[in-house]
Amino acid sequence: MTIRRPIVAGNWKMNTTVAEAVVLATSLRTVMHDGGPTEVVLCPPSVSLVSVHGAIHGTHLGLGAQNVHFETHGADTGEVSVGMVGSAGASYVIVGHSERRARFGDTDEVVSRKVRAVLTGGLTPIVCVGETLEEYDDGATAAVVTRQVRAALEGIPAVEVGGIVIAYEPIWAIGTGRPATPEGANATVGVIRGVVADLYGHEIADGMRMQYGGSVTASNAASLFAQPHIDGALVGGASLVAEGFATIVAAAAVRVA
Ligand code: PGA
Repeated sequence: MTIRRPIVAGNWKMNTTVAEAVVLATSLRTVMHDGGPTEVVLCPPSVSLVSVHGAIHGTHLGLGAQNVHFETHGADTGEVSVGMVGSAGASYVIVGHSERRARFGDTDEVVSRKVRAVLTGGLTPIVCVGETLEEYDDGATAAVVTRQVRAALEGIPAVEVGGIVIAYEPIWAIGTGRPATPEGANATVGVIRGVVADLYGHEIADGMRMQYGGSVTASNAASLFAQPHIDGALVGGASLVAEGFATIVAAAAVRVA
């Protein structure tokens, strides 16, 4: 069986001023003094990337952006490019979060272009997929994530795909306090792994890291990470409190125990 290094990312969304982001990053640095086996990625708002990078520099904590444009530069007022967030210290980019898909026009096609742009820029995409409550109720979960994963990976060569992280985030679980059951989340991540295996073969699929996201907390993280397909979490609300986030990170160590 392939051992995949666990990865827990904190998606701070549109929270924290620059000063607050530095305070949070500094507390995380203090609370998580010992690196442990889990890769940890903080995703503050893009205006705070440079400052958070400074606060975590030299530690085991990694940095990610929450979004980028797919173009490298140009007349796109208000947007930031992969090169820009990379120059600010980010090595990861969240792509296709459901909030962006629902409110900011990130279609499957746009997500695909962003994934390619992130890889071309030398950064690692954390690609989010997941179904709405209606789709869940209709039993369409597998079909929806299959479509989203196929679209996101369109045109990505096998040599590059293995490094991508996929986050399964059922939309009905995000920010609701109602996470998927560990078994349900595992089953859908298993579907996603199967899609990757169909496209790229079992070896690549077995090595690819896949997270669950949606109302992950310090109290439910361990049961999610006990599932064979779930290699970590993309954490929203619970990533804004240092101790709670540290507990989630520590729980992921079970993956390599
Ligand atoms: P949540 O958000 O943990 O607050 O549910 C997860 C996410 O949107 O990535």
